[in-house]
This record gives sequence, structure tokens and C-alpha cells, in this order.
Amino acid sequence: MNNNYLHGVFMCCVICFIKYTVDCQTLNEKLALLLKRNDLICPDECQYTPEHPYFEDDMECCVCLAQPYWMLNSSNVRLLNISFLQNNTPVIVYNNGSNVDLYNVTYQYGNLTTIPYDLCNINRIVYVDFSYNCISDLYLISCIRLLDTLILKGNHVKYLKNNVFSGMRYLRVVDLSYNKLGDIEQGLFLHIDGSLSYFDASNNLMENIDISNIIWDKQDYFCVANFSYNIIRNMTNLKGWSCDIHADLGHGGYVDFTNNNFTIFFNIVEMGFYDINLLGKLYFYSFDFRFNLWFCDCQFFPLTSKSNIANQILGSAHHGLKCHSPPEFKNKSVSDFIKEQDLLICNISFVDKCPPNCRCFYQPSRNRTVVNCRSSLVSHKLPLVLPDYVNLVIDFSSNRISNLQAEFKRLLSEERTYLGRTVKISFASNVIKDVPKIVFVTLKNATMINLSNNPINILSESLKIIRPRAVLFGTVNLKCVCRNIWLQNWLLSAGRFYNNTRVMCHTSAGVKSILDVDKDILGCENDGVVNKWLTICLGMCLCCTVVSIFIIYNFRTEMYILLREHFRLLRKTSIPLSLDYEVYISCNEQDDNLRHWITYILLPYLKGKRLSVFLPYRDCIPGTPREDEIRETMSKSRNILIILSKVYDDISKRWLACELRYSWLNYRNDWRKNIVIVNYDFLETNEISDDFIQAFFRLGKCVDFSNYQKDIRAKVFSLLHHKFADSY
Ligand SMILES: *[C@@H]1O[C@H](CO)[C@@H](O)[C@H](O)[C@H]1NC(C)=O
Ligand SMILES: *[C@@H]1O[C@H](CO)[C@@H](O)[C@H](O)[C@H]1NC(C)=O
Ligand SMILES: *[C@@H]1O[C@H](CO)[C@@H](O)[C@H](O)[C@H]1NC(C)=O
Ligand SMILES: *[C@@H]1O[C@H](CO)[C@@H](O)[C@H](O)[C@H]1NC(C)=O
Ligand SMILES: *[C@@H]1O[C@H](CO)[C@@H](O)[C@H](O)[C@H]1NC(C)=O
Ligand SMILES: *[C@@H]1O[C@H](CO)[C@@H](O)[C@H](O)[C@H]1NC(C)=O
Ligand SMILES: *[C@@H]1O[C@H](CO)[C@@H](O)[C@H](O)[C@H]1NC(C)=O
Ligand SMILES: *[C@@H]1O[C@H](CO)[C@@H](O)[C@H](O)[C@H]1NC(C)=O
Ligand SMILES: *[C@@H]1O[C@H](CO)[C@@H](O)[C@H](O)[C@H]1NC(C)=O
Ligand SMILES: *[C@@H]1O[C@H](CO)[C@@H](O)[C@H](O)[C@H]1NC(C)=O
Ligand SMILES: *[C@@H]1O[C@H](CO)[C@@H](O)[C@H](O)[C@H]1NC(C)=O
Ligand SMILES: *[C@@H]1O[C@H](CO)[C@@H](O)[C@H](O)[C@H]1NC(C)=O
Repeated sequence: MNNNYLHGVFMCCVICFIKYTVDCQTLNEKLALLLKRNDLICPDECQYTPEHPYFEDDMECCVCLAQPYWMLNSSNVRLLNISFLQNNTPVIVYNNGSNVDLYNVTYQYGNLTTIPYDLCNINRIVYVDFSYNCISDLYLISCIRLLDTLILKGNHVKYLKNNVFSGMRYLRVVDLSYNKLGDIEQGLFLHIDGSLSYFDASNNLMENIDISNIIWDKQDYFCVANFSYNIIRNMTNLKGWSCDIHADLGHGGYVDFTNNNFTIFFNIVEMGFYDINLLGKLYFYSFDFRFNLWFCDCQFFPLTSKSNIANQILGSAHHGLKCHSPPEFKNKSVSDFIKEQDLLICNISFVDKCPPNCRCFYQPSRNRTVVNCRSSLVSHKLPLVLPDYVNLVIDFSSNRISNLQAEFKRLLSEERTYLGRTVKISFASNVIKDVPKIVFVTLKNATMINLSNNPINILSESLKIIRPRAVLFGTVNLKCVCRNIWLQNWLLSAGRFYNNTRVMCHTSAGVKSILDVDKDILGCENDGVVNKWLTICLGMCLCCTVVSIFIIYNFRTEMYILLREHFRLLRKTSIPLSLDYEVYISCNEQDDNLRHWITYILLPYLKGKRLSVFLPYRDCIPGTPREDEIRETMSKSRNILIILSKVYDDISKRWLACELRYSWLNYRNDWRKNIVIVNYDFLETNEISDDFIQAFFRLGKCVDFSNYQKDIRAKVFSLLHHKFADSY
């Protein structure tokens, strides 16, 4: 039992030991890979970073806490003494051939003014401590190739070039605190190609720090960059560094800016973070800006609007970031503004075109710039210029402004007037009587024009170009006339903004809202004159159209016939038609008198005129189908002479109807054909059933078979078309 227990404990220990060793190895190896050197040893505590209060991961812990193996046993490193020649030249006391091969050069509280040149001849110096000397010049330092730690605390270094440490792959700790450092060339850390983890420039005289000396993009991790106790007021971006969207700014480290003279929070866009979300690339960095003289204004707005990123980057320090001024915000924590972003404003001064006696400020949380000139325009005139910002919210109320027409004309003579940039403007409580159209035209971009509390007594129709919700008149007292009736519609279109404007009418019937006033009370009976005329005109037009359509429909055949006549006269040159017959005579062959007249009077006459005639009862070949023959011959005849008579015999009726049909078809299909009608039996129009014959009748294009006609034959002939007539 006991044995088993001991065995278990033993096994456990073995496993623990193996696991521990493996992990430890891995961590050191990881660090070696990261910093490209293999002399560093991570302390045990870095295995347990979750419990560590400061570090987010084990690598961060290692970078901060790992030490080179030779530091753990001082017998690994030999101390070299410095002695001075007569002329104060420092020489290194050094004897070659010892079995120790790493050196420590420490010389504190001396009068060294430069790095001794001898150091370049000794190969394996890893540690230099020249604290509290008078060194001002560092240009030789990079010849100490294997240097790990450089301590120059309390010297006279004034300036650091950005390549001062170039080539020093093992440089891990640099202490330049308590020097006279006024400036660091931009890009120092962009040029570090080693394993720098501690950089201390605290207690110096720096007034500015460049963003390129804060961002380390070559080295994935560092531990501390200490710029505290300087007099830094501003962050610059002299080289125009900008954060690439694909850039990897590494894991960063802790950057200490406490106890500087920062007042105004820097512009994040000017620092190269064109999109505030790019700040997320600094997620693992931690900036400590506490104990500065922060002036809490609109510059802090981006930080509070992205409070999640800001909290992370500024770490817990963000919560400790306190305002120093303006007085009303003294000691207020910047993180409190996350809930009160409207308080973060930037005042705009007279220099930036804020008119005298006015108060102007930019308020990013509402994306607007407020210009408050309430009761402060001593000249009672509008200022010509206002701050160069967009989205102006202007208050010109209580200034005894009277003539808006003149004021706006004056403003519009400015090249870039602020009126187009105005979103809200107030002319309340002035002495304006009339609001001219120019106001609404130039303030078209505004969402609110406040004109309340003015003695306005005219509302012109130019008001229609602006929506009722965008203008506020309060109560307007008008002497209403019929011309004002449009206000009813305009006011009703205000919807839920109905309270912006209330128009009170002073009429014979007392004071009433214009919405409750009848047209009659305003004397609007004349208002339909134009309408009336318009209606009459329209009515007449409609009438004309109907009549025209009726006529066209009923007299279409007549019109067609007239049209043909007309065209025939115009087209006399048409090629003559070569046809078998000049005249086809359609008649009632049962009528003896008619037959007689045709045979003995008409035919000889036509023959005399040398016209060939087809007379069905004479020329039809017996035995052929009559209808075919009618169709055939009619299509070969130029003229169809129709002799109308009363017909009682069914057979004749049939053939005559057939002939009439074909004659119309021929007439319609061929423009050169002609129909001549002789009213033999003096038929009346209503006795005739065919439309086209009625049309001929009505047009008077019929020859009456009467005795008054001197010569029917000549009349008939004149109506016939013939090839001689065609080609004259
Ligand atoms: C170098 O020498 C100084 C002074 O003796 C000593 O304080 C320091 O620890 C030494 N550094 C190393 C790495 O041995
Ligand atoms: C330090 O190193 C020397 C030899 O390099 C060795 O003899 C000594 O035991 C070491 N001391 C410790 C505490 O590890
Ligand atoms: C270095 O100087 C100190 C005193 O200044 C002395 O004690 C020490 O022995 C010297 N070391 C060597 C190696 O000369
Ligand atoms: C020290 O000795 C090595 C060889 O052991 C030699 O190469 C080197 O030049 C010597 N250095 C000095 C400063 O004498
Ligand atoms: C440094 O120089 C000052 C005066 O020049 C002298 O008093 C002092 O002793 C010097 N210090 C050393 C360590 O040589
Ligand atoms: C930076 O330097 C100051 C003064 O030397 C010191 O108080 C502070 O702790 C240092 N910051 C860090 C993070 O080490
Ligand atoms: C800070 O630096 C920026 C850029 O160099 C400059 O525009 C700004 O005026 C400076 N602000 C102060 C307060 O010096
Ligand atoms: C920096 O701020 C301190 C107070 O924190 C003040 O005494 C000092 O005059 C300021 N320095 C500059 C250069 O503004
Ligand atoms: C701000 O805080 C400091 C120190 O905590 C205190 O002395 C000072 O009275 C506070 N000022 C205001 C206005 O609260
Ligand atoms: C502020 O308003 C201007 C103009 O209306 C617009 O172009 C700009 O995008 C707005 N800015 C923000 C942050 O909404
Ligand atoms: C309204 O604003 C647009 C751009 O925001 C500008 O182009 C236009 O000129 C402005 N309108 C007026 C009437 O100023
Ligand atoms: C409209 O105006 C009247 C009188 O000024 C006021 O009593 C009422 O509350 C207002 N209504 C709205 C919705 O603002």
C-alpha cells in the first residue's frame, strides 16, 4: 500500500519533470527563434503566464524577463578596468589569452566624453555601463558587435540618429535615461535589427516624438519603451508614415508616456491611421499616457467612439487618463466621455473665422459645427464669413435683423458663402417682415430654418420650394386674401411637423387658422375663370372630334371618290392602260326601251367616238358562266357605265347586283378605272341599296336621264375616261 503510494508519487514527479523540461526547452527555443539568438533563458515563471498579472502570453513574459545565461553566473564575465593616459585618453586594461571570453566594461561617475575607441578592438564585450559620465557622442557604439546591454544613464547624449545601433544584433537593453536627449531621428525602431527589449529614454528633454519611433514593425515583441518624464507635447509624423492595411505591427510592448507635457490629443489620421479601425493593429501594444496635461476636446472623440480598441491599446491606463483642462473637466476620466460624447467639442476662435462676440465650436459626435451669435451681431448684419467647416448650425436670433433680401444679396457676393454649408439656421426673434425667395433658394440644403417670433405679414409663394418641415415660422398673422389659399395645401403637407407653422387669418369673420377658413370668405369666386375657358375649349375640341369622326365614318365612300378624282387630275401622266374595252355597259336588259336607246342612240355615238364597248346581252358568249364573264370583261374595261333602272325580274336583279359588286371592286382596286352612272328611271337615293351608288348620287356624279339634258350622250362621253383623254 505504502509502496504503491510512493511509486505513484515518484511517477508523477518524473512526468512533471519531463513535461517541465520539454516546455522549458520549447519556450527557450521559441525565444531563440524569435530573437535569432540562443543565449537567453526564460525564467520559470513564464510557464505560468495565465497567473502573471502583466503579461498576455509566455513570449511577452520571456522577452521581458529572459536573461543571457552569462548574467546568471558572474564568473562567466570578466570586468575590464579603464585607466587614463597623461592626456586623459582612456585605455582598456586588457590581457589576452585568458580562458574567459566575455567582458564587462563598467566605468561610472567618471569624466568620459566619448566611447573609448579601444572597445572596438576587444571582441566579446557584452556589457557596457558608463553611467554618469559626460558622453555626448555615440557614433562608435555600433563597433561593439556583440553588446547586449548598454547603460548610459546620466550622460550628455543630445541626439540619436536612427542608424546608431545598426548591425548590433544582440543589443537587448539600452538605458539613455537622464541624458539631454532632445530628439530622436524618425524611424529608430524601424531600423533596429536585433532583439531590443528595453529602451529607456525617460527623464530627457524631448518635446516631440515621431510615430515611427513608437511603432516597431521589424521586431515582433519588445518589453518597454520608456519616454516618461520628458516634455513631449506633440506626436509627429514627419515622414508621412501610414499604416498599410496589410501591415503587421507585431506584438508590440509597453510604451510609457507618463509625466510628459501632452495637452491636445493627436490626430489619429495625421499619425497615419487613415481609418480608425486600423488602430486595431496596435491591439497588443499598450500606451500609457497618464499624468499629462490633457485638454479634453474634440480630439478625444475618435478614442471614445472606438472605446473597445482604445481601451485595449491604452490598457487600464485609459481608465486612468484624466483631463487637466478645460476647468470644467478637470480630473474627469477620459473614459467617462464614452457616455457623453457630445461634451467633446473644439472651440473655434476668431482667427478661424468665428465672428466677434459669437461662440463657435465643432462637435464631432453630431458631425456639426455650432455658431452661436445670439444677440451678438452689434451691426445687426449677418457676418460675411464663418468657420470653414461643413454642417453649420447657426443661431442669428435676437439681433434685430430686418432686411433679409439685402443681407442675402451681400452674402452671395462672397465667393464661397457659408449658406450652402448650413444645415440649421435660426433668425428667430428678429424684426423680419418678409422672407424673400432668395432665402429659400440659397438655404436649400438646410433642414431647419427658424423664423419664429418675427413680425412676418407676407408669405410669398416662393415658400413652396421648401418643405414645411424644414421651416419654422411659429405663428404668422396674415391679412388673408384669396391669393393665400395655397397655404392650406402647403401646411397640410407638413404632416407631423404641423406645429412648425400656424397661419392665423384676419378676415371679416374674425381671426381663424387659415386651415379653417373657407374659400368663399376669402372671396375666391373668380378663381375659376381660366378653368372655365379651358373647359369650354376642351369641350369644343371634343365635340369637333366627335363630329369629324361621324362625318368621316358616314361619308367615307364619298370622300374616297372625291379623293380619287382629285388624284387623277394630279396624275395625268400615268401610263395609259391598254385594255380590251373602253366601256362596259351594265343595264337592265329586260327593258325594251332601254335596249332600244342603247342600241340605236348610245352605241352608234360611242362607235363614232371610236370607243370599244362591251354590252353583256350582246357580247356574252352563250354557254360560258355569266359571273366569270362579268368578272373577266369588267377587269378588262376602263369605264363601267351603269344605267340604273327599276328591275322586277329576279334573274336580271341577280346579274345586275353581281355587276355592281364587281364594278365597285374594280373601281377600288385600280385607280385608273372609272364608273359612270346614268339614272335612267329617275331613282331616288333611298331606292338604291348600294352604298357607293348612293355616294355617287349624293356627290351629284350621276347623269339624269331627262329631257332637260340636251345631250345625254355627250354628257356621258365627257364623264368617260378614255385613252385619248388619258394622254393629252
Ligand atoms: C559588470 O560589472 C559591474 C560592476 O562590477 C556589475 O555591477 C555588473 O553586474 C557586471 N555585469 C555583468 C553582466 O557581469
Ligand atoms: C559559475 O561558473 C563557473 C565556471 O564557469 C562554475 O565553476 C561555477 O560553479 C558557477 N557557479 C554557479 C553558481 O553556477
Ligand atoms: C580594476 O580596478 C579596481 C579598482 O579600481 C581593482 O580593485 C581591480 O582589481 C581592477 N581589476 C583589474 C583586472 O585590473
Ligand atoms: C588576443 O589573442 C587572439 C588570439 O588568441 C588574437 O587574435 C588577438 O589579436 C589578440 N588581441 C589583442 C588585443 O591582443
Ligand atoms: C573629473 O573632472 C573633475 C574636474 O575636471 C575632477 O574634479 C574629477 O576628479 C574628475 N573625476 C574623475 C573620476 O577623474
Ligand atoms: C520609466 O521610467 C520612469 C522613470 O525612470 C520609471 O519611474 C518608470 O517605472 C519607467 N517605466 C517602466 C514601464 O519601466
Ligand atoms: C503637432 O504636430 C502636428 C504635426 O506635426 C502639427 O500639425 C500640430 O500643429 C502640432 N500641435 C502642437 C500643439 O504643437
Ligand atoms: C511641462 O509641464 C510641466 C508641468 O507638468 C511644466 O512645469 C513645464 O513648464 C512644462 N514644460 C514645457 C516645455 O511646456
Ligand atoms: C484633482 O485631483 C487632484 C489630485 O487627486 C486634487 O488635488 C484636485 O483638487 C482635484 N481637482 C478637482 C477640480 O477635482
Ligand atoms: C459629416 O458630414 C459630412 C457632410 O455632411 C459627411 O461628408 C461626412 O461623412 C460626415 N462625417 C461623419 C463622420 O459622419
Ligand atoms: C448643397 O450641398 C451640395 C454639396 O453638399 C453643394 O454642392 C450645393 O451647392 C449645396 N447647395 C447650395 C444651394 O448651396
Ligand atoms: C403644438 O403647439 C401647441 C401650442 O404652441 C402646443 O400646445 C402643442 O403641445 C404643440 N404640439 C406638438 C406636438 O408640439
